[in-house]
Amino acid sequence: MSINWYPGHMVTARSKAAETMRKTDLVIEVLDARAPHASCNPVFERLRLAGQRPALKLLNKSDAADPEQTRYWLQHYNRQPGVEAIALCAKKPSELPRVLAACRTLRPDRGAADKPLRMMILGIPNVGKSTLMNAILKRHVAHVGDEPAITKVQMFHRLGPGMSLVDTPGMLWPGMAQETASKLAALHSIGRAAYDDEDVALTLGRYLLRHYPELLARRFGVLPRPCDEHTLLGLIAAGRSLAKKPGGGQDVARASVALLNDFRTGAIGRITLETVDELAAPA
Ligand code: G4P
Repeated sequence: MSINWYPGHMVTARSKAAETMRKTDLVIEVLDARAPHASCNPVFERLRLAGQRPALKLLNKSDAADPEQTRYWLQHYNRQPGVEAIALCAKKPSELPRVLAACRTLRPDRGAADKPLRMMILGIPNVGKSTLMNAILKRHVAHVGDEPAITKVQMFHRLGPGMSLVDTPGMLWPGMAQETASKLAALHSIGRAAYDDEDVALTLGRYLLRHYPELLARRFGVLPRPCDEHTLLGLIAAGRSLAKKPGGGQDVARASVALLNDFRTGAIGRITLETVDELAAPA
């Protein structure tokens, strides 16, 4: 089953955000540290580059990502001109001063009352944008929830006399590769109705078997050799005594949900779904 990821309201939101970007001095892009490349909206990245706007790339949820991979991703982004990248856990308000300090460093020419630093914040659904916004504004301005695309309109906020911030809704883009869509579904940046749990769990299982077999073994017990993604789901089903289907097979559907939930909650461990090297040489 292919993943249908582009609801109509995002078309309107996209043109509005493109308009806002023209009046922006700095783009704050919230990425999911577990898949920084997949969670970057290429439509806005192209617009940003065409408009020569600097970017602060925040690799959020870094507490859930593989720390070694996060280091490589930070190096990768920090090599790009006009970009500063920071690993973040938006749930920890103590980390926030770094965010605004980095904004000022990226645009030292702006930030006065007569020349305010105009920023916009972008991010696909569920990367933690509302959590960050709430922390920045130190009051509850947006509903924080685990269902994608809750904020649907742009909001303008004045952060003191020399700074303003436009909050945009979480947006995906058309023509997304299925490999990317599958990662975003695993991260729950795409709504549940748009994908098949089993397809996404099989793709996730394949990646985890290749990159994090020790974490899988710690969570689900010793893996047989060889072990492919189907075997893994069978093992999870057996390990959790999931009810057998009438046909006699194990309940792979429920095992798929279990694997996805364990990944999302961090029960398997700190995991990143893509490496910088894979950008140069896709699998
Ligand atoms: P969005 O606006 O980009 O759509 O995302 P939102 O802030 O609503 O956050 C989506 C989920 O991600 C929330 O989980 C939020 O708590 C969690 N989250 C945000 N930042 C971080 C972070 O740095 N690390 C981790 N591990 N999680 C983060 P939730 O399940 O809806 O709520 P909660 O029970 O976690 O609060």
